Amino acid sequence: MKILVLNGPNLNMLGLREPELYGSRDYAALEEYVRGEADRRGVRAEIRQTNHEGTLVDWIQQARGAFDAIVLNAAAYTHTSVAVLDALKAVNVRTVEVHLTEPKNREDFRKVSYVGMVAEKTFSGRGFDSYGDAIAYLAGGEGR
Ligand code: DQA
Repeated sequence: MKILVLNGPNLNMLGLREPELYGSRDYAALEEYVRGEADRRGVRAEIRQTNHEGTLVDWIQQARGAFDAIVLNAAAYTHTSVAVLDALKAVNVRTVEVHLTEPKNREDFRKVSYVGMVAEKTFSGRGFDSYGDAIAYLAGGEGR
């Protein structure tokens, strides 16, 4: 199984951005964590990050036929991007939504998720382990 792990804007700032919310580990640590979880579950994972909405759309489109599933933390675009929603609908690749924090427990504007409208499952509020849960779910395990 090949999984494409996509991260949206400001996730490259992990470790620096609002550490009280997102923790002190940096983006390189997240990449390492994801690779470790993929190995542990016997799946292949490619992990990418962009600050640009159009790049996310391009990568989602390119996933068609190339990956079995997308694990998507669209970050702020989760709550704003009809373009990301339309791309996900267009490619029809299994998608699991992830968030480090629990957006539903934060500001009202984070309560809408365009990604969640098409994702088959959402894992949130568990820091890096939200990604681990998503990988375990896709790999067919019972989670941690
Ligand atoms: C986030 C939650 C979003 O609301 C926020 O805009 C982010 C990160 C998370 O992983 O908790 O940038 O997706």
